[in-house]
Amino acid sequence: MEEKIENRMPLIGDKAPSFKAKTTQGNINFPEDYKGKWIIFFSHPADFTPVCTTEFMTFAKMDEEFKKLNTELVGLSVDGLTSHIAWLRKIQEIEWNNMKHIEVKFPLIEDIKMDISKRYGMIQGESDISAVRAVFIINPEGIIKTIMYYPASTGRNMDEVKRVILALQKAEKDSVATPANWKPGEDTIIPTPGSCGVAKERMETQGDDHYCLDWFLCFKRENKK
Ligand code: BEZ
Repeated sequence: MEEKIENRMPLIGDKAPSFKAKTTQGNINFPEDYKGKWIIFFSHPADFTPVCTTEFMTFAKMDEEFKKLNTELVGLSVDGLTSHIAWLRKIQEIEWNNMKHIEVKFPLIEDIKMDISKRYGMIQGESDISAVRAVFIINPEGIIKTIMYYPASTGRNMDEVKRVILALQKAEKDSVATPANWKPGEDTIIPTPGSCGVAKERMETQGDDHYCLDWFLCFKRENKK
């Protein structure tokens, strides 16, 4: 009997659903092939469409920056492999925003049957024949850490995707959180104290390492004096 694919949105903290797929870079076993790396798994509505073209040029241009962050890009749409290949070849001929001869080296998944996009909740109310613009950030253990969804009409901000990767990596490395609009180098947030004793100690030991605006809002100094 054919397996029924649920159109269920996976949640932050879930294990990224596994699948095997054909891509423009060969077959992949997801997320297992990416063990030990961060993944930006994103969908777009369709090949040969204008907003998607600008997104692919921008993501491809940032591919090396992401690799330096131990992060791999993986794209998906419900188009087939031939369409993907033709579109990626066409993109190399387009010049936009100081970008030209852009080669997309990361894999673009074909998902004609929509098995994968349904499993990731990428088919939403806008259209039942194409994916929305979804972004799943998956950590090196295969756990979903961030989910973003955008409508077809809105191109994503790739710098924001990179900022979130940097914030997640910082949080995992130093057990801190990051405030609104945080950028690397800026002070981070020490998680809320779990006891009266820790709250008191934190308030009383402010100095070179940390400062508090109140007992529950303490910042770690990232640029120590
Ligand atoms: C676009 O990429 O331009 C696009 C794709 C689907 C619907 C609307 C716009």
